[in-house]
Amino acid sequence: MRALKSKPAAGLHGELTVPGDKSISHRGIMLGAISEGTTTLTHFLTSADCLSTLAAFQQLGVPIERQGTTVNVHGVGLNGLKASSTPLDMGNSGTTTRLIMGLLSGQPFSTTLMGDASLSKRPMKRVSEPLATMGADITTTDGHLPVTIRGQQLHGVNYQLKVASAQVKSALILAALQANEPTTLTELLPTRDHTERMLTAFGGEITTADDGVTITVQPQPHLKGQSMTVPGDMSSAAFFMTAASLVPGSEITLKDVGLNHTRTGLLDILNAMGGKISVKSQPTNGEPIGDLTIQTAKLEPINIGKEQIPAVIDELPLVALLAAKADGVSRITGAEELRVKETDRISAIVSEFKKLGIAIEELPDGFVIDGRKPWYVVDPVLDAHDDHRIGMVLGIAALLVKTPLQLKGADSVRISYPEFFDDLDQLL
Ligand code: S3P
Repeated sequence: MRALKSKPAAGLHGELTVPGDKSISHRGIMLGAISEGTTTLTHFLTSADCLSTLAAFQQLGVPIERQGTTVNVHGVGLNGLKASSTPLDMGNSGTTTRLIMGLLSGQPFSTTLMGDASLSKRPMKRVSEPLATMGADITTTDGHLPVTIRGQQLHGVNYQLKVASAQVKSALILAALQANEPTTLTELLPTRDHTERMLTAFGGEITTADDGVTITVQPQPHLKGQSMTVPGDMSSAAFFMTAASLVPGSEITLKDVGLNHTRTGLLDILNAMGGKISVKSQPTNGEPIGDLTIQTAKLEPINIGKEQIPAVIDELPLVALLAAKADGVSRITGAEELRVKETDRISAIVSEFKKLGIAIEELPDGFVIDGRKPWYVVDPVLDAHDDHRIGMVLGIAALLVKTPLQLKGADSVRISYPEFFDDLDQLL
């Protein structure tokens, strides 16, 4: 049980560089592994999820060294991965699992993947079924982990995705690299495009049509190792953006944050709510980055629907918190994907926010929140539900009440942001 910091007298102040982006760190290892030559990743995210990816590729015969946040991946090429004699442990990481399913479905060996209790409840048919249309042979356990992938020669397909998911899209892209002809994928809505951008940087041929949702992948590329600095994770910066916006008297600067437009939904939402954020973009030849300065602001309520969800999917618990202090009723809908994250995040947010007396109503695909109702602590013992993002949002919520609160399962932050509580302390 962790004692959370309560309302700071003077707000949040100072400057912080958040750890590297989780999605980009995973992909850096994976693309580095199937490239020729060495890939050097600096500012790599050393959280439990990304270390699950690193260990899995070591087990697949890829030499990888890490010193702090610098990682060298000695690529073995698209045909150089080796069978693992034991099942690969995916830990808590959905991204590792789903992307590896795509990659290994075209390899000439079999692999079994397993994971922790939370990951073992998450849906895997959303990946195994579309991969099967390419000729993949994957057995799931009733749609879940453990799964066994028996590598096959894959063929190119023309496939319309059934969920707006970058993990599913990326699994299909990694499979398509190994097919015998090009593949065309059509997304329901644009989702994070790190795989597409990074694959291009590593020498792959992948194009997205002007509609933003039709992606064509050319097979059998010769990928070349790259050196890259991983941008700060927008999804980690988001906790402090929210805290500084809500805690009176705050002004903070977050340095070198990734500003890829498929990830900046929270920035757009905060701006629309009346947030005070200034963005200083920096020139790069890869993923866009910039410094963000955030000051406390009086916020208006907001309505968010399906189209806006992908760019803010991981920040929706924070949108709920912003709404809980806004001057009116906010509605968030079209977010049913939250129910299949590390925990059912709709139900977790509703039950934990109710402990703080927040006027929140659960919808099948989101929530309605009245920010005008005063909060009152009903139960001071909060629960992270073994979910890193729920744990962190509750750590921020605690800054908005005077009553001391406690958090069960605070160590779940190790999944994406092990230094979260230390970094928060630095700003207090
Ligand atoms: C991720 C995609 C998203 C996101 C997850 C990371 C990725 O999941 O929630 O944290 O790196 O591709 P979905 O693709 O399931 O929406």
